[in-house]
Amino acid sequence: MTTMGWAVVIIYAVTITVVVFGLLSLAYGSHLAAPWVPSGRAEREAIAEALPVSETATVYDLGCGNGGVLFALLDRHPGVRAVGCDVAWPPLLVAAFRRLLHRRYRGLRLVWADYFRRQIGEADAVLLYALRRSYPRIMNKFSTELRPDAWVAVERWPFPGLVPAKTLRVPGGHDWFLYRGGQFRTGV
Ligand SMILES: C[S@@+](CC[C@H](N)C(=O)[O-])C[C@H]1O[C@@H](n2cnc3c(N)ncnc32)[C@H](O)[C@@H]1O
Repeated sequence: MTTMGWAVVIIYAVTITVVVFGLLSLAYGSHLAAPWVPSGRAEREAIAEALPVSETATVYDLGCGNGGVLFALLDRHPGVRAVGCDVAWPPLLVAAFRRLLHRRYRGLRLVWADYFRRQIGEADAVLLYALRRSYPRIMNKFSTELRPDAWVAVERWPFPGLVPAKTLRVPGGHDWFLYRGGQFRTGV
């Protein structure tokens, strides 16, 4: 085969490998807690506006996807220490690229990891958008790791058995339900 022929074969092989691994990482996220479904603009803006955190708070987005919610939060609170975590690397790559383009997003930390394996005890607030089947595992994690005064904001589906400290109605979008970390220990 000619050099040109080998180059074409290598480019195809690399492209197919990248696409396959990208799809596998997306499938893995679906399997763990939820498929990648980006939060809508209304939801992003609503929670960025209403999340009760200080200007220097540490905010984790568990399953941050392309980081849309954290970017909206940083637009309003540039001093926030934002940490986005996801197992699916294609949307995470989009977030990394957007961070690169804007100076005000430079502080955003993006972590390619399974959030069930990350310690989140330092968080002042945690954002989440996951399927209800993953809630028992997530609630168990929150009960052992979160500070009692930390905020948890979950999009779309409230946690079973817990009374939200606040409910954020989003006209034309999914509501957010806000809890305190201590509720995951007391179970009320
Ligand atoms: C409903 S989407 C949230 C999308 C995000 N709010 C956005 O606007 O792009 C859920 C995300 O959680 C990720 N995910 C699910 N389980 C995870 C886990 N255990 N660790 C890290 N990411 C996870 C999925 O890959 C997916 O991107």
